[in-house]
Amino acid sequence: MNPSALSSGLPMSAPPPPWVDTRTPLGRLIAAVLAVEPMRQLLFLQARRMMIRTAESRGIPWRRRREQLRQAAEPLLAASTDAAVVAPPYYRARFHAYAEGNLCWEAACEAEQATDSVALRVWKEEKQLTPEAAQQRMRDGIYAAIAPSLSAPVRDALDIGCSVGVGTLALADWLEQNGHLGVRVSGLDLSPQMLAVARVRDAAGRITAWHHSAAEATGLPAAGFDLITAQFLCHELPGHASRAVLLEASRLLRPGGVLALVDQDPEADVIRAMPPALATLLKATEPYLEDYFRLDLPAALADTGFTAIRRVASDHRHRVLVATRP
Ligand SMILES: C[S@@+](CC[C@H](N)C(=O)[O-])C[C@H]1O[C@@H](n2cnc3c(N)ncnc32)[C@H](O)[C@@H]1O
Repeated sequence: MNPSALSSGLPMSAPPPPWVDTRTPLGRLIAAVLAVEPMRQLLFLQARRMMIRTAESRGIPWRRRREQLRQAAEPLLAASTDAAVVAPPYYRARFHAYAEGNLCWEAACEAEQATDSVALRVWKEEKQLTPEAAQQRMRDGIYAAIAPSLSAPVRDALDIGCSVGVGTLALADWLEQNGHLGVRVSGLDLSPQMLAVARVRDAAGRITAWHHSAAEATGLPAAGFDLITAQFLCHELPGHASRAVLLEASRLLRPGGVLALVDQDPEADVIRAMPPALATLLKATEPYLEDYFRLDLPAALADTGFTAIRRVASDHRHRVLVATRP
């Protein structure tokens, strides 16, 4: 698929959609609803039920796959944990209707299914599309957006906020198939449970390393990577953490290296005009969504010293910001 390049040079960010912005009446109303704890709990449950029901009706074996992954991943927890890593307080928030956020088996063993659901939702009117085909199409759009910024073969790539490795493995495939032969691809995440599931999914051992650490303080050596991707990470971060991640990515990249940030597109019509009920459900499960939409990421990239910043809509819900470390 050919993603449409919306602009080049330094793009301006759109203002946050009204439903997420607590400076607007709609944003304030949604925030007030979510401030009532029993209401938030109810919406959490509602969001979760809806997600599982929709996914299973579209051919994603949500509950069966969860049990399979858990059984296989539990023995890999110790190997996926760096005991010295302390998750920052913001990371311990409730995400995605899980009380323990990303630090639990339920979140880790449902992440693959949730990612497939996200992909299906992009083309929800195509009822015959399989979860695998939707996932492939979504990732193809992302990597096609990155490609024009890669002016030399990628030898080392790092996928930060890799979760259970869906994007990490897709990135490794894409790089190998697009001339970056012998590329070493690693994943990094703060959740040991996610990393244990990633190892199960990477049964063939295609990924060089699965690192347990914070994206803003990786502990990895400087200038070790030609490409860093953060696929669907920034909307899970408070603004200060996003900025810290950009700084760390700049440290990790070699001169000429490329950073790609994939996430919801603040300029997309479907995002901006989300029906209030759906927006409320979404906001109930994403604690830092307002921060994400308020942060002018292109400007933050420029502030961090990145150049050649491009914004590309990889599909009609998501955008990729691609930038080069001078
Ligand atoms: C929505 S998931 C990412 C999905 C995945 N990258 C993909 O493309 O399918 C967000 C991930 O970011 C991780 N994460 C959030 N904050 C992080 C941080 N500060 N450092 C490392 N990982 C983080 C979470 O544990 C979670 O696995």
